[in-house]
This record gives sequence, C-alpha cells and structure tokens, in this order.
Amino acid sequence: MLVRAIAGNATYHFASEVRAGLTRSGQKELPSKYLYDDVGSALFDVISRLPEYGLTRADERLLRRYSADIVDCLATPVAVAELGSGSGKKTRWLLKALSRRQRTSYYPVEISPWALAMCERELSDIDSISIVGLEREYLAGLAEVAARRKSGQHIFVLFLGSTIGNFDRSAGVEFLAKIRRILQAGDSLLLGTDLDKPRAQLLAAYDDALGVTAAFNLNLLGRINRELEANFDLKQFSHVARINHRARRVEMHLRSNRLQQVRIQAAALEVEFLEGETIWTESSHKYSAKEIFQMALDAGFRCDAQWIDEEWSFAESLLMAK
Ligand code: AVJ
Repeated sequence: MLVRAIAGNATYHFASEVRAGLTRSGQKELPSKYLYDDVGSALFDVISRLPEYGLTRADERLLRRYSADIVDCLATPVAVAELGSGSGKKTRWLLKALSRRQRTSYYPVEISPWALAMCERELSDIDSISIVGLEREYLAGLAEVAARRKSGQHIFVLFLGSTIGNFDRSAGVEFLAKIRRILQAGDSLLLGTDLDKPRAQLLAAYDDALGVTAAFNLNLLGRINRELEANFDLKQFSHVARINHRARRVEMHLRSNRLQQVRIQAAALEVEFLEGETIWTESSHKYSAKEIFQMALDAGFRCDAQWIDEEWSFAESLLMAK
C-alpha cells in the first residue's frame, strides 16, 4: 500500500530552490535531497556496494548482528517509521526481530518513489509485518504516522545510513528536536552515524576509482536539464570531494571547467559560472561516538545504548524520548 503526497507543485518547488541556490552571492549551492531521483537512487545503490564506501555495509552489519539486542530495549507494541528507507535491505533484520514479538506496522517515508517500490518489494515477504509506504518529506511522513498511532502504541523511528550527516551540525540537532516534538515520552529513535576516519579513507569513499560518485553528483545537473529545461553541459563540470577539517565533514562540489553560461528555462534563470567556480551539492558530517550522547540530550532524548562497527567506524545509537 502506498500513500502519495499531492505532488502538483513539486517542479515549482525544485525550480525555486535551484534558483535560490544558484543566485546566492558567494558559494553557489544545490540541496542534496535532489540527488535522489530514480537515476541518483540507483547510483547510490551502486555506491553502497563499492569497496571504498563501507558506510552502508557497516550499518547493515550492525543491524544484522544486534537487531535482537536493539529490539530488547524497546517497549511493546511499536509502529516503525523509517525516514529515508532507501532499498530497505538493512531494515529486514530489525523487522524480523520485531515480528518475533508482535504484528508490526512499518511505514517507510521516502521522497523517491523508486526507492519506496524497491523497499516494498524487498520486505514484503516478512510475516507479521504490514508495510505502508509514505511518499512524503521526513517530518510530514512522521506526523502522519503519529496521527495513525493506536492507544498504548509506541513509535520507533529509524534514521539510518548517516543521513543526518547531510545537515550542518546545529541543523542536525534541530532536526532531531523536531522529530522529538512529534513523538511522546517512551518513543524511541535509532540513529545511524558515520564516525570520524582518516583523510585518505574519506577521500577514496567520496571519489571512488570507478567514478560512480562522480556520476551520482553530476546527475544532479542532468536532473535539472531533464526536469527544468536546462542546458548544463555535463562534460564541462567535474566532481570534487573535499575535506573540511574545521567542520569535520566531506563536501561534494561540482567544479566548472571553464567560464560558461547556463540557461534554466523553468526557473527563468541564466547563470554564469567562472572557470574553477564550484556548486556545493552535499555535506557528509562525521561524528565521534561520544558526541551523539550530547546531541541526543540537546534534542530532548537520552542515548540509552550504542553499537559500534570496528571494521568501518560507524555507530547505531538508541535514543529514548524523555
Ligand atoms: C546517504 C547521505 C549517507 O553522505 O555518505 C554517498 C550520500 N554521497 N556518496 C553520504 C553519499 C556521496 C551518503 N548518505
């Protein structure tokens, strides 16, 4: 079952965010959420299989190993809301552990219909789980799950894959606080975060030898061409992965190979790019295991437990709504 948002003004929204990002004075930028159209979601799925990018496998390994322990920490019964389900592959282990205790409703919240369809297909075979996909932005989707809450039921939110890393540190805490305001005391949140690691490892992860991450990044311009009648020449932009030490994050940019003008019809926009000028398309913040405890407190949660992968340093943290 799939509940779709009224998507009538989606193109208009996209156009206005592209316009705002490309007409800023100083650093041009585009919101990273637009990386995930069908092509981008499929490319990310490939990235997650690359030897250089261990993040998704670490997340999955932790869930495979510790799902029973994680589920043991929860009050029953729960409804599960996953913000950004992706293909749903790693969620299988948690849902299986839950299904051993009770019938469970699972609500994947996704703006990518491609990812939602994958996720529903991947998980539909698990007994005692009913899947209701919500094609919504994260907080709107979670609010919808809260509205369907039955009396005595708790909500278990999954925010995996270090998606929180796309937010600036302070915006990340603010986002967790917004989740908290939709929840009630006793509800819980499982947060996946990628941890600090050596510079060379990070650069390889975000600039892989096959060029899949480069394609993933450039696809954002391809998407603007397809959906907003633009004429970006993708050959005239290059993928750049940069480490920002002060902010403890990897940044992805698209660098203009020469002075050029681009026309974006649906945004009524003509933009000039200088040679070497970049568009900042994504941030991936890295965390220490310890700082998650303070982030949780600042957002109105308490971190009750944490599981860490040693092979690719990554943490799952279980946050309880206070
Ligand atoms: C899905 C946001 C966690 O930041 O590592 C992968 C996206 N970007 N390679 C990340 C991504 C480039 C990814 N997240």
